[in-house]
Amino acid sequence: MAILRGEEEIPALPAPTDSSDLPIRGGDLAEVRGQEQAKRALIVAATGGHHLLFSGPPGTGKSMLAARLPSLLPPLRDEEALEVASIHSLHGLFDPANWRQRPYRSPHHTVSAAALVGGGSQPRPGEISLAHRGILFLDELPEFPRSVLEVLREPLETGEIHIARARQRARFPARFQLIAAMNPCPCGHLGNPLQACRCSPAQIQQYRSRLSGPLLDRIDLQVEVPVLAPEYLENAPRGESSAVWRARIAEAIERQWQRQGCSNAQLQGEALDQHCALEKNSRDFLRLAAERLHFSARAYHRILRVARSIADLAAEASIRQEHLAEALQYRRLAHTLSGS
Ligand SMILES: Nc1ncnc2c1ncn2[C@@H]1O[C@H](COP(=O)(O)OP(=O)(O)O)[C@@H](O)[C@H]1O
Ligand SMILES: [Mg+2]
Ligand SMILES: [Zn+2]
Repeated sequence: MAILRGEEEIPALPAPTDSSDLPIRGGDLAEVRGQEQAKRALIVAATGGHHLLFSGPPGTGKSMLAARLPSLLPPLRDEEALEVASIHSLHGLFDPANWRQRPYRSPHHTVSAAALVGGGSQPRPGEISLAHRGILFLDELPEFPRSVLEVLREPLETGEIHIARARQRARFPARFQLIAAMNPCPCGHLGNPLQACRCSPAQIQQYRSRLSGPLLDRIDLQVEVPVLAPEYLENAPRGESSAVWRARIAEAIERQWQRQGCSNAQLQGEALDQHCALEKNSRDFLRLAAERLHFSARAYHRILRVARSIADLAAEASIRQEHLAEALQYRRLAHTLSGS
């Protein structure tokens, strides 16, 4: 704020660097053994800026995977870095050493609503705004109070949060990428072949119902992270490194900006229809799936955006049936969770 009042000099910024010079933080993707589907979902999420939910028993690598998302993303563009720096300055959190690094925020589920989404008598931006242009990791998603989760629906959709207090109104940017993790049930072992789940069907139902349908509907990719046998974990081959993936993902992101001036997650209205146009056989395929699985119109569009990202990763000009089929797989868990 002192900068805005002209009392302090704007700190000199380091010269822009290209993505290859930024250090990789949060660990390397190659350290995650197995979990091929979860890794693939993380890569697709990174490509299009899609929200992602991991569900699986404790210790399967959900936090490890989430921490590796920043390593897959290109650094912030200069305009983005300025936005981030100005929001962080409001909290005294701006550090020139983080220039062009994507924010990664991981508030605990005991966080207050005001600290998460912003508020206070002089409204200040919360964690979701500190995660603007970066990543918001919500671990143990169902443990967050339902009232707090419901407030996330607006920024998940629009990239902004409106805060109304007695006499004040504020609007803060909050275009974050959500990455969330949850256990499949209260005890955590549902689906674990090595340990029996102790929960009753009613307990499981109650736990899952903490996440509303409209919230889940806004999370494009929902993936199960299974328990792996220890001998498999030891012998699983090392996958490719974050640096290799980051270069591929950067190309796929560049394609999106060249074509439509935004990421796939942000495609709306006419641009969505234009850039996600399907050939007749693909359209029939998706319509049939939508009818069978009772997708909402929102879910239908989210599948199209994810399929667009899968096609961009493959450097394909148009979305093909195989891209749709993969995008559909990432909605299967949504179905289990919503009980339909
Ligand atoms: N797929 C995996 N590959 C390598 N290490 C793993 C894997 N899954 C779990 N681990 C190990 O187990 C620890 C716990 O994983 P974590 O990501 O915290 O699990 P979760 O968040 O699902 O409870 C990690 O720090 C790592 O050492
Ligand atoms: Mg964890
Ligand atoms: Zn259980």
